[in-house]
Amino acid sequence: MTTNSKFAVMVGSGFPSLVGEGEGQQPTTRFGEASAAVHTITLEGCALLSLARHGDGHSIPPHAINYRANLAALQALGADSVIALCTVGVVSDLRQSGEIAVPDQIIDYTWGRAHTIFDGSDGVVEHIEFTEPFSADLRRALLLAAAAASLDCHDGGVYAATQGPRLETAAEVDRLERDGADYVGMTAMPEAAIARELGLRYACLALIVNRAAGRGDTPIHADVASNTASARAQSMKLLQQFFKQA
Ligand code: HPA
Repeated sequence: MTTNSKFAVMVGSGFPSLVGEGEGQQPTTRFGEASAAVHTITLEGCALLSLARHGDGHSIPPHAINYRANLAALQALGADSVIALCTVGVVSDLRQSGEIAVPDQIIDYTWGRAHTIFDGSDGVVEHIEFTEPFSADLRRALLLAAAAASLDCHDGGVYAATQGPRLETAAEVDRLERDGADYVGMTAMPEAAIARELGLRYACLALIVNRAAGRGDTPIHADVASNTASARAQSMKLLQQFFKQA
């Protein structure tokens, strides 16, 4: 990664300060329209692109997001590196609600999503390598920023991507844990794979907002309500430090 990298933030739930204001830009892509206009925002003096993955007013559920168009729009506007903010539930005992993490692996349980740019429609077939699904450079840079800001950010963990929009059953979460998952969320796939296909650096900053279904006694929505602010504040601090150094 170089200081000339052009960064974008893929913004998940509830980050109004990162979404930007005004009209923004909505480039047409070969995959259709992005979820919303792309804005240029400034963090610590650094200009970066920002896109609300779920659209203006959070109206697009995870399975209906046009992941291909979102990433192609960011790339068309010059991005080469994408920091994806993803809320997750915690499956294992690795971390607690209210904390943050930079996962290093993925298991994909999603289905029926437009999940590849190599769908055969233009005669191009490519099998990208995905052994390490996140950019090592970008992960390292995020973790360095976390350390510099004295944040307790977990390095690694397996992100299980589920279809949603409903939350999981307790038995499904038991299965995720047996499979080796630490976190469960609904958006990092196919986002991470399409980013790799497009040649974009991509890493996920996970906001742990609840214990997954069947873990703990607190109802999930109450857990989310009491832990989102802490995870969000830590993520903002991390990003501020990241862009101070960038
Ligand atoms: N499951 C799936 N996605 C999520 C969760 C969860 O518990 N929490 C936040 N996103």
